[in-house]
Amino acid sequence: MTKDHTQPEVNIGLVGHVDHGKTTLVQALSGSWTDQHSEEMKRGISIRLGYADATFRECPGLEEPQRYTVEEECPDGGESDVRRTVSFVDAPGHETLMATMLSGASIMDGAVLVVSATEDVPQAQTEEHLMALDIIGIDDIVIAQNKVDLVDRDRAVENHEQIREFVEGTVAEDAPIVPVSAQQEVNLDLLIQAIEEEIPTPDRDPDASARMFAARSFDINRPGATFEDLQGGVVGGSLVEGELEVGDDLEIRPGLEIDEEGRTEWQPLTTSIRSLQAGGEQVETARPGGLLGVGTGLDPSLTKGDALAGQVAGEPGTLPPTREAFEMDVDLLDRIVGEGEIEEISTGEPLMLTVGTATTVGAVTSAREGECEVNLKRPVCAEAGAQIAINRRVGARWRLIGVGTLK
Ligand code: GTP
Repeated sequence: MTKDHTQPEVNIGLVGHVDHGKTTLVQALSGSWTDQHSEEMKRGISIRLGYADATFRECPGLEEPQRYTVEEECPDGGESDVRRTVSFVDAPGHETLMATMLSGASIMDGAVLVVSATEDVPQAQTEEHLMALDIIGIDDIVIAQNKVDLVDRDRAVENHEQIREFVEGTVAEDAPIVPVSAQQEVNLDLLIQAIEEEIPTPDRDPDASARMFAARSFDINRPGATFEDLQGGVVGGSLVEGELEVGDDLEIRPGLEIDEEGRTEWQPLTTSIRSLQAGGEQVETARPGGLLGVGTGLDPSLTKGDALAGQVAGEPGTLPPTREAFEMDVDLLDRIVGEGEIEEISTGEPLMLTVGTATTVGAVTSAREGECEVNLKRPVCAEAGAQIAINRRVGARWRLIGVGTLK
């Protein structure tokens, strides 16, 4: 079988505490920085989800793990063979950006948990991100013990033991722990080998209807573009199943909020696919994996500034319903990281809910043990059985308290 060299086939999340080295690791493996927004450059932290593709290769003449590489040329002078292209979804590690991490988790097939060897384990978001993987059900995990260049052997071993102890009883219990230095590019071959072994490309149903979760949306026109040059709105996100083709009709839900005589109503948008960009190239057909840019016939003012982030796109008539309220079964965590026990959800309280890539606030209209009903500020498009990350306001920020299953 020939491999499509450019289109990534699996999304791998990079998660973990702020500054532990996620972005540096993505850069070492893919050659590109995921922090590309000016605010991120200034503050040195990731704010939005970053995507970067990396092609994993193998040197046929070398033993494991040295045979794994991202370089085209092998140390023995030969040429490397392509194994597969993966897409890294770089989640922000800052405590205030859990919602972004959670919306990223909905498009991750597996994850690399980055833990710095220079700090005690666990730091807050190491724990909170692992809990999120746990409740969302992402169990193909590799742990990268990063910054080993900054510690001595004893400290590295001690830190390794702390990590092992910390992941006991979690989804990452059996995950390999690979010591690396993202900055010095040490042990990347071992890390690639671990990812290849632990995070397989999921089996996808080729006949499933296309379902894309939008993570971003843009107006790609330069200021002052003339009418003839104007390009339609672009929606960026990931296909979680099915295929999209240039020329296909596309429906986007919930769509647009329309104000009709004082009543607001959400109307799905319909358009057609004018272009598709996957793995950095224009393609005719796109499959799941990686960040997809879908050029549409929509008025670019509708897609400007991430206006459609969190929405769902697919073939018209096949998308789940738009819900302004719903009922869910609730499974609470044992405790909030760093805060202690979690009280039952109560009627009237606001919750921040992540459904797919959508984040919305819901007011609880009724709560019983193990289930509750919410009225949403912004509707979501989701089907019965969807997993919902539930966050409660504690002090100044939203904290993950459990998982809901849409009824
Ligand atoms: P957020 O995305 O904001 O959560 O941070 P991050 O986890 O992506 O961390 P980032 O990659 O931005 O790295 C934080 C700092 O650690 C930077 O100054 C990096 O240069 C440094 N760093 C990352 N990896 C290593 C490493 O292996 N060794 C050393 N010495 N420094 C590293």
